[in-house]
Amino acid sequence: MAFATYSSLKDRTVFITGGASGIGAAFVQAFHDQGSKVAFVDLDEAAGQALAGTLGASAWFRHCDVTEADALQAAIRDAAAALGPVTVLINNVANDTRQAAAEVTPEAWRKGLAVNLDPTFIAATTVYPMMRDAGGGSIVNLSSINALLGPGELPTYSAAKGAINSLSKSLARAWGPDRIRVNALSPGWVVTPRQLELWLTPEAEAEWSKLVALKDRIMPEDIARAALFLASDDSRMMTGQNMVVDAGRT
Ligand SMILES: NC(=O)c1ccc[n+]([C@@H]2O[C@H](COP(=O)([O-])OP(=O)(O)OC[C@H]3O[C@@H](n4cnc5c(N)ncnc54)[C@H](O)[C@@H]3O)[C@@H](O)[C@H]2O)c1
Repeated sequence: MAFATYSSLKDRTVFITGGASGIGAAFVQAFHDQGSKVAFVDLDEAAGQALAGTLGASAWFRHCDVTEADALQAAIRDAAAALGPVTVLINNVANDTRQAAAEVTPEAWRKGLAVNLDPTFIAATTVYPMMRDAGGGSIVNLSSINALLGPGELPTYSAAKGAINSLSKSLARAWGPDRIRVNALSPGWVVTPRQLELWLTPEAEAEWSKLVALKDRIMPEDIARAALFLASDDSRMMTGQNMVVDAGRT
């Protein structure tokens, strides 16, 4: 197989949340490979430093808990000061810990939204003036097919992802006149280290395989390639959409 190179992404400053592992790490690598200047934050300092170390001087990493709004805003502004105004934002961070709906306390609900929803809005509003002043930009918000399917053991996560779909539409309308595009990107079940460790058993994968049209595994790089397209000028008239990459599950 052969994949696209987007000349519009060269030298563009890209900010990615939760970029140290999983799909986020594939985003970091993919934008780096396109010649973008990549900044990313993560709670996992060791994994973040290790990844940044493989990329060289053009990569920028900071340990940051995205549930702390001030720290996330400061990271975005400092990354822009170091690399140039952020014109691509990938809101990737999430935590998909399962919890039975009846057991979600008010505190657990708030904690779930604090990592799965709030950072998307905070990061978007922080990059907005930079993108406006730069003449435009692209925001890609990681959603999930779970926003469409609503699995019972992921009530907070699914609610957050549904909200991300709606928020993407709302911001697309609000900021379209500034040539800022905002799209959601919804993966199906992606084979990441965390999924393999916690939930993607051979039995679960066999069940998934019965439900999808395409039988190959969805890899983090498959999601990254969709994000490259949404970030690039090739998708310049596309905004307010939910791009689903799920092997035909939904
Ligand atoms: N993996 C899948 O099958 C799948 C399916 C649908 C949607 N998605 C979405 O894709 C995105 C990436 O998913 P993933 O599977 O790679 O996730 P992951 O859990 O493997 O990685 C998430 C990253 O975010 C970091 N992180 C978690 N909490 C943080 C915090 N408070 N502050 C800073 N960093 C924090 C983690 O350290 C990790 O590096 C998420 O938005 C997820 O909801 C994933």
